[in-house]
Amino acid sequence: MLIKSAEFVMSNSDVAKCPKDRLPEYAFIGRSNVGKSSLINMLMQRKSLAKTSGRPGKTQLINHFLINKNWYLVDLPGYGYARVSKSAKKVFQKFITKYFEKREQMVLAFVLIDCRLEPQPIDLEFMEWMGEHEVPFCMVFTKADKLKPNALQKNVDAYLQKMLETWVETPQYFITSSSSSVGRDELLGYIGSINEQ
Ligand code: GTP
Ligand code: MG
Repeated sequence: MLIKSAEFVMSNSDVAKCPKDRLPEYAFIGRSNVGKSSLINMLMQRKSLAKTSGRPGKTQLINHFLINKNWYLVDLPGYGYARVSKSAKKVFQKFITKYFEKREQMVLAFVLIDCRLEPQPIDLEFMEWMGEHEVPFCMVFTKADKLKPNALQKNVDAYLQKMLETWVETPQYFITSSSSSVGRDELLGYIGSINEQ
């Protein structure tokens, strides 16, 4: 898919105030610091369309970006990061779950997973929550540039194996790197093919 335009539209924490024009939208979700905002910038080939940071918790609101004037990318705050409370390790911020429950024009979510880590309970639980709520999602392994190809494939295979403990089949997945643009064509091609249906 050719990206002709990408523009920031709005930020807010209230699902009811998100754009009302019913264009299809694709949401990026995952733990804080996994690379959601960086991936959006990589896909759009724009350095700072979405704000990124080395410190977790950068994205705090629901951010809508209008792409090619006919679909939205949505950058969401990360889950699993609690600046104040140590006990609140597993926080899916209320408005994130509300977003997925209420946002009917959300076509597909991309759940981002750091390819370097073993399957993390919080990600597995989040994907289970998505399944229970019938929210369609794909997985996106991020930061592929940080691993050698063999180690990368090993981690991805192990992850998919782990998923099969609770899922009948594994979801569609992508391998990406925001620093080398790996996975860009595949991911945009996938979105394009859904938009054309
Ligand atoms: P929150 O908004 O805090 O939830 O984080 P986020 O998921 O949006 O992560 P963000 O895109 O801000 O990136 C977090 C850090 O990871 C930044 O320092 C990025 O430069 C780095 N990063 C993101 N993607 C990649 C990648 O593909 N490769 C490498 N090497 N670093 C990455
Ligand atoms: Mg972010």
